[in-house]
Amino acid sequence: MSLGERIALPLLRLLDPETGHGLAVAAMRAGLGPRGGPVTTTRLCTRLAGIDLPNPLGLAAGLDKNATAVAGLGRAGFGFVEVGAATPRPQPGNPRPRLFRLAGDRAAINRFGFNNDGAAAIAARLAVRPEGGVVGLNLGANKDSADRAADFAEVLELAGPFVDFATVNVSSPNTERLRDLQGRAALAGLLAGVMAANARLARPVPVFLKIAPDLTDHELANVVEAALEGGVAGIVATNTTLARDGLTGRHAAEAGGLSGQPLFARSTVVLAKLHAMTDGQLPLVGVGGVGSAEQAYAKIRAGASAVQIYTALVYEGLGLVPHILRGLEALLARDGFASVAAAVGTGRGEWLAPGSG
Ligand SMILES: Cc1cc2nc3c(=O)[nH]c(=O)nc-3n(C[C@H](O)[C@H](O)[C@H](O)COP(=O)(O)O)c2cc1C
Repeated sequence: MSLGERIALPLLRLLDPETGHGLAVAAMRAGLGPRGGPVTTTRLCTRLAGIDLPNPLGLAAGLDKNATAVAGLGRAGFGFVEVGAATPRPQPGNPRPRLFRLAGDRAAINRFGFNNDGAAAIAARLAVRPEGGVVGLNLGANKDSADRAADFAEVLELAGPFVDFATVNVSSPNTERLRDLQGRAALAGLLAGVMAANARLARPVPVFLKIAPDLTDHELANVVEAALEGGVAGIVATNTTLARDGLTGRHAAEAGGLSGQPLFARSTVVLAKLHAMTDGQLPLVGVGGVGSAEQAYAKIRAGASAVQIYTALVYEGLGLVPHILRGLEALLARDGFASVAAAVGTGRGEWLAPGSG
């Protein structure tokens, strides 16, 4: 951890979580964050759905919702950064407080509800981002939209020219009935619209689908079929959970999506199931509760070609990014893997009930 982080982190923790979060993003924007640039080695550089990455560790959606800190985040060591969610029109999100820390559980609960500056403003920022660095955009729908499915296509149409990938986010628990779009028929229609918009771009981008960790096996199978038929480039597993198992923090009963350590096992099981269901043929991004090199490695061995992280950064700071990557390099070397790709899915059976994988 840098000296600046050692001083700043405890102070940020004293503030209300959303103000602390805003200040951290502002500090990144001002160039006060780490300066190293992407961590990379021959073993760590990898490919995700045709995108070359210097390493497999990315920033998950929701931290830089408005793409105001892309340049600073790009220097923190990540292999890729996902900004957003962006919705067609700007919207304020839910009333505050809407972000809660559960420090004892190394977790957070949020119910932001897609607060963002809107796709036009976000696209304008992405249009002038510095060269280099892989950046994706998380696509969302306006709360009061008459046609939410169309919203995803609209955001991609506006911002698609300025990003390297996009993620259809139908898995946030904080926009009422959004998760219903994970149903087979609804998802098929939505993806058809998004893929048509993508085909109209001068340079179509890989489109990922981000799913919830709370689907039944039957629902998961339907999502996979719709995703494959719809032509997605991969699946991001997972978003936050509505489950509240084993929490000790006083905010445990707050409404919203739970992220961080308590999500790790649940989201990794979903990842392993997806890898088994798709025979390892569909690129997967593993996200949920990663806070160490061992956990990033476990996601890869469960089936992830790349990993994303968010909540652990709130507790550990951005110094965690190079720390995880150095550890991941050592773990791959220890186990004789010459590349990240060689390790993908090799431990998936550890996460699956006998007979399911
Ligand atoms: C405050 C907050 C805001 C988030 N906003 C979004 C979002 O806009 N879109 C999205 O797909 N995921 C969003 N997420 C989910 C994260 O991208 C990630 O899937 C989840 O937090 C699990 O990873 P973690 O345990 O490393 O935090 C958000 C998470 C948090 C904590």
